[in-house]
Amino acid sequence: MELIEHVHAARLKRQYEPADTKLIATGGYRSPDAHLLEDVLVSIALKKPVLLKGPSGSGKTKMAETISAYFNQPMHSINCSVDLDAESMLGFKTVVQQQGQTMIDFVEGPVVKAMKAGHILYIDEINMAKAETLPILHSVLDHRRMLTNPFTGEVIYAHEDFNVIAAINEGYIGTTPMNEALKNRFVSYSVPYISGEQLSELWDERFPELLPTIKTMMLSLAEDLKNQVQQGILSEEAASIRSLLDATELAQFIAPLRAVRYAIAEKLADQSERELVIELAKTWIK
Ligand SMILES: Nc1ncnc2c1ncn2[C@@H]1O[C@H](COP(=O)(O)OP(=O)(O)O)[C@@H](O)[C@H]1O
Ligand SMILES: [Mg+2]
Repeated sequence: MELIEHVHAARLKRQYEPADTKLIATGGYRSPDAHLLEDVLVSIALKKPVLLKGPSGSGKTKMAETISAYFNQPMHSINCSVDLDAESMLGFKTVVQQQGQTMIDFVEGPVVKAMKAGHILYIDEINMAKAETLPILHSVLDHRRMLTNPFTGEVIYAHEDFNVIAAINEGYIGTTPMNEALKNRFVSYSVPYISGEQLSELWDERFPELLPTIKTMMLSLAEDLKNQVQQGILSEEAASIRSLLDATELAQFIAPLRAVRYAIAEKLADQSERELVIELAKTWIK
């Protein structure tokens, strides 16, 4: 698409310092349908903050990394489930010695760096942030694209390539809701678990040496788990692609059923859910 191509071409012309180059991620996200990734890229090209909503292990972080890779653009990540405060987003003052003199310097945090340099800012688990933390970003996330740094008084206008991608672990059931004023500033996309052909291709890419019997077992189990989750019988992390990838990796070395137990079943809180996962896995072991 011309809009995306135009932005892509412009960003590929940029050159980065070695330290920033390290922040360019690796791609590999597989879009669950023909449109999702492209539709997200349209928002990115239009400088709209993007919100990715989906269950754990559905590829939200992978999608953000893929966007970073596509635009060859460094990405800074912050995670709101840790004790995120204004300092960890914006930066902090520190004392430095310069030519025998004691001076106060400001060490820029990820938000300020990404805004000034035109990098991507990835805000993970944004619904987990403390209520008082994120309003500071409101002016960054709307048409103003600016921030007055409360620690320095500096007024910062975002570089034209600055983008925000946020993620929330919200699946079919939903979790901690996100503050409305904040949510309102994003264009939101649901990121479902991939399945069928997409999943099969991901497995071929990750496990080129895998025994076909194990591949068939894991992908069949994946479909079962997804169905049970959709019917509300299993909690959604049971169908996490991350866990399935882990189970497959283990199954190259230990009995597949034990691999499924450790990587998928044991993570579930409910005893009956753990048993169901094992029973489903057994039906695919010949
Ligand atoms: N659609 C997808 N395309 C490529 N890889 C995927 C996809 N969905 C999940 N994965 C893989 O599953 C694992 C978990 O994905 P991740 O992006 O960390 O999930 P999330 O951030 O949604 O919890 C990673 O190894 C990721 O590459
Ligand atoms: Mg993630």
